[in-house]
Amino acid sequence: RKKVTIQELHTLRQSSTPITMITAYDYPSALACSSSSLVDITLVGDSLAQVCLGYASTTQLTLSEMVHHARAVARGTKHPFLVADMPYGSYHTSVSDAVANAVRLVQEGRVEAVKVEGGREIVDVVQRLTEVGIPVMAHVGLLPQDTAAFWRGRCQKVLYDALALEDAGAFAMVIEAVPQELGQFITQKVKIPTIGIGAGPHTSGQVLVYDDIMGTWSATKQILRDSAIEAYCSAVRSRDFPHKDSESYSMDRKEFERFC
Ligand code: KIV
Ligand code: NA
Repeated sequence: RKKVTIQELHTLRQSSTPITMITAYDYPSALACSSSSLVDITLVGDSLAQVCLGYASTTQLTLSEMVHHARAVARGTKHPFLVADMPYGSYHTSVSDAVANAVRLVQEGRVEAVKVEGGREIVDVVQRLTEVGIPVMAHVGLLPQDTAAFWRGRCQKVLYDALALEDAGAFAMVIEAVPQELGQFITQKVKIPTIGIGAGPHTSGQVLVYDDIMGTWSATKQILRDSAIEAYCSAVRSRDFPHKDSESYSMDRKEFERFC
């Protein structure tokens, strides 16, 4: 498949073909995302913090760590459009800091676009990045505290955020953890592709964390992982590994005595 472009993402939306997005954090997961022609977008999500680096929160992830991982993902990415999250704090101090940090992600991290989480409070950042030529994916929603009273106030805020971010130039937006009715409504109201996670079946596309697709943390996978480690260690302890013929290097005895 040819390299996916923003234009193609808009075409997919227009033809009601669901857009597919998967996160990747390193070279092997990037290769996995590139192995099926059905993957449209690879996202180096800031879920990197918890999924790969063992942090308790995404707020602990630094820009340098994101750049390091994005660069590895870029080396493994073929046709998918490549996006990276701007880490917490890297676009909150000023618009010029946001530009400098996004430029690092593009030049050093080698991604094609950046994603920023937030609503109307970050439209100036979205606008400026778009102006300087860095495509921006917005990310709205979250906080699935689904009491009726909560969502009455919340739905309108998320909708207005989405409209403002589109207006500021975002080329697409992730909608996370909102009632499916809102996911559908925003998708009808904006012209750019919407990519949902916990936002129902009516968005222009869906995104999922790589490890959740692989079931990395499922009981079955963990048992498989543990038994492979167990088998290796047992073989070492019992001297079944390495086998002297098939798993070792050898040289002629006489040669050995002459040289060693
Ligand atoms: O960081 C991430 O993985 C994300 C997706 C869940 C959208 O932002
Ligand atoms: Na994220």
